[in-house]
Amino acid sequence: MDFLKDPRFAGIERFDKKIWLSSPTMHGDEQRWVDEAIQTNWVSTVGANINAVEEMMAEYVGVKYAVGLSCGTSALHLAIKLAGEKLYGQARPNQGTLQGHRVFCSDMTFDASINPVAYEDGEAVFIDTEYDTWNMCPEALEKAFELYPEVKLVVIAHLYGTPGKMDEIKSICKEHDALIVEDAAESLGATYKGVQTGSIGDYNAISFNGNKIITGSAGGLFLTNSKTDAEKIRKWSTQSREAAPWYQHEEIGYNYRMSNIIAGVVRGQIPYLNEHIAQKAAIYERYKKELTDLPVKMNPFDIEKSIPNYWLSCLIIDEDAMAPMVRGEQDYLYKSESGKSSPQEILDALTAFNAEGRPIWKPMHMQPIYRTNPFITASGNGRGRTNAYISGTFEDVGADIFRRGLCLPSDNKMTEEQQDVIIDIIHKCFL
Ligand SMILES: Cc1ncc(COP(=O)(O)O)c(C=O)c1O
Repeated sequence: MDFLKDPRFAGIERFDKKIWLSSPTMHGDEQRWVDEAIQTNWVSTVGANINAVEEMMAEYVGVKYAVGLSCGTSALHLAIKLAGEKLYGQARPNQGTLQGHRVFCSDMTFDASINPVAYEDGEAVFIDTEYDTWNMCPEALEKAFELYPEVKLVVIAHLYGTPGKMDEIKSICKEHDALIVEDAAESLGATYKGVQTGSIGDYNAISFNGNKIITGSAGGLFLTNSKTDAEKIRKWSTQSREAAPWYQHEEIGYNYRMSNIIAGVVRGQIPYLNEHIAQKAAIYERYKKELTDLPVKMNPFDIEKSIPNYWLSCLIIDEDAMAPMVRGEQDYLYKSESGKSSPQEILDALTAFNAEGRPIWKPMHMQPIYRTNPFITASGNGRGRTNAYISGTFEDVGADIFRRGLCLPSDNKMTEEQQDVIIDIIHKCFL
């Protein structure tokens, strides 16, 4: 369909410059710290920028220690490895620490949350999502413990910067003596009952990837209150060198440490974190207000308990306003119908006008790579009945949100006028 010629969109101009989903926003201070690293020759994995980032972020998040790493994925890998070692002991060099063990994982997240379980030879058991926050469903987690009472580790992500139901999840984990790895890659600055995400789990990770609320172009942090754990992660991340005069290795190591150049960019961004959150919050509120007349809802959060960082604004279309849409493995088809629309139609319309949206992260249990892993819903069912439409709701909540939802352009440099055009395009999709 050519949206630019579609009479529904008559009068809307294509954006000259692309409106991004979420792109980096540099302020100038980054240059100063990168230059200083170069001028002083501290360009490797030691230096003042790394020390400053670790100190500033530990203070901001409210933990005692932060360890600068190459990315959020490496932070998660080492967090999950450390949890595995605590639970099951040190692994042999050719084995992961989770060998033969199951781990309960958020299902609707980016695969970087989950892959480290596989790196450590564990098996991810995916826990379905709940509608209130689009995060791990506590009821499904309880069911999972009934089915697999031996599990001792839970990996939870806060999707799109909205905190999950941490009270419920923590109390279930406590009851079963399970450790929590908190993936706060998307939620830096979001709080749950006044406490920062990234400080709630037993082992915590954040990301400074280019699309995150602040960025170093890359980079991530492992966050903890334990000095021993921080030292262990620092050691693992620098090839596990022992304190000997020569290269001495008693454990498997990794080249995961943050560079002082990347840290310079992060250091320049930290003072703008709260400003970015405020800009993203304004974008979310504006969408929410201007889309109230449509049969859609914004991505929800529990206003009593949490303040998101509003990293991505998303919408979900009401069931009875869903136009027909089918998705294959890598392609899709949809039909336009008056008064209705579908995520793929809205995304195509946005693309035609040079704006970037994105489908909701496809749940992990639907991913070809993880399709044979166990998946547990709130009623304790898993594979086989996951797409059953029972008494007006889908039992597989993640699949339903993926089907009806989408991420909207959420770039903090988008102007109000540009957002008005995006809002207009969304309205026209329902004509
Ligand atoms: C939920 C989640 N976890 C982990 C990561 C991995 O972070 P990185 O790209 O810094 O490795 C990302 C984003 O990239 C993410 O969105």
